[in-house]
Amino acid sequence: MEKIEKLKSERKEIIGEFSKKRPQDTFIDKEIKKMHDIYHVVVTDITVETPDVKTFTLSADKDSSTPTLAPFKAGQYITLHVTIDSMPVTRAYSLSSNPTLANKDIYKITIKRVENGLVSNYMLDEVQVGDKLSVSMPAGEFGYNPTKDEENVIAIAGGSGITPFMSLAHAIDEGIYDCNLTVFYSVRTYEDIIFKKEIEEINKKSKKVKFVITLTREEREGYLHGHLSKEMIEPYVKEFNTVLMCGPKELYRAMNEILNEFNIPRKSVHYENFFVEYEPNEKTTYTLKVVMKDKVEEISCRNDETLLVAMEKAGIPAPSLCRVGECGYCRSVLLEGKVKMVGAALKKAESENDYIHPCVSFPDSDITLRLDI
Ligand code: FES
Repeated sequence: MEKIEKLKSERKEIIGEFSKKRPQDTFIDKEIKKMHDIYHVVVTDITVETPDVKTFTLSADKDSSTPTLAPFKAGQYITLHVTIDSMPVTRAYSLSSNPTLANKDIYKITIKRVENGLVSNYMLDEVQVGDKLSVSMPAGEFGYNPTKDEENVIAIAGGSGITPFMSLAHAIDEGIYDCNLTVFYSVRTYEDIIFKKEIEEINKKSKKVKFVITLTREEREGYLHGHLSKEMIEPYVKEFNTVLMCGPKELYRAMNEILNEFNIPRKSVHYENFFVEYEPNEKTTYTLKVVMKDKVEEISCRNDETLLVAMEKAGIPAPSLCRVGECGYCRSVLLEGKVKMVGAALKKAESENDYIHPCVSFPDSDITLRLDI
C-alpha cells in the first residue's frame, strides 16, 4: 500500500499540472478503444506480383490469443505493427483479398516498395513465410456502400491503388454486392501490372466486373495506351454513377477534371486518402514534450514531419492506425503550443477537449502533448 502511494505521488510530480486536463471518456473514446484489438498472424504465403510488389497472405496465429480474424468490407485496411531498429512503427495497407477468405481467418495485403520506405522495404526484404506479425482489426470507410451508392461503379486505380479494387471485384463476383464494376487501371508498363492472373481470370468469367488496363509507357496488344482519358472512360459512364479512386495525387487531379466534364456530382466520388503533406515556409526544429501516464519525454520534432513520426523515431509507442487523420485512433491532447493540422476534420467533442491527431499535425512552436499510454 505504501509502495502504491509512493508511486502515485511520484507520478503526480512527473505529470504535475498536465494531469488536470484529462477529460472523462467520451463516446468517441469508447468507439476508438474498440479499435485497439491486435491480431496475431503468421505469414503463410508470399506472392511476387512484380519486381517491386509482393502479396502477403496472413493467417490467424492459432497458437496466439487471437486464433480467429474479424470479417472486413472490401476497401478496408489493416495496420501493420512492426518494430524496426527498436522503432515501433505502423503502416496501413488496404486488404487486397476476397472478403470471404476472412471466414477462413485469412487476410491478404499487397505491398509496393517505396523509395526509402522504412516499412515497405522491411516487408519486401526481410519478412519470410512463417514469420509472425501483429495487425489491427480492419478499419476504414472507403469502398462500395450499397445503401448509398449507384449500381454503376467506376473505379480508377493508379499503381498499387489497385489493391482495394481487387478485393471489391472478388466481393462482387461472390455476390456480396449487386452492382457493376469497371476498374480503370493505369500502370507504366506490362511488367508493373499487379494481379495479372487474377485480373485475367475475373475478366474471363465475371459478368459484373471488368478491368480495363492502360499502359502509360508501353504499347502492347490487348491494352490501352496512354494516360486515362475522357474517351477511354466515356463508354462506361451511365446516367447515375459512383466513382471510387485510389492512387497518386496527380491521378486524382487529372481525373477530377475529366469527371467534371461528365457532370458526375462530387458526392458520388469517393477517394482513398494516402497523403499527408505540408511544406513549411521555413524549416526548423521544435521541442516536443510527450506526457505519458507514467513518464514525460522530451524529444525534437522538425516542422516538416508529423508529431507521430517524431515520436516513432524516438521510440515512443504512440498509437496510430490510418495515419491520415481519419480514424481518430492517434488522438492526443495538445497541452501547450501550436500545430498545423492538415486534412483532418476534428469532431466537436475533440476540439472542445483540445484533442489533435498527431498523425497529421506538424509543430508550429514547441509542443507539449499528452498521450494516453
Ligand atoms: S492514426 Fe488515424 S487519425 Fe491518426
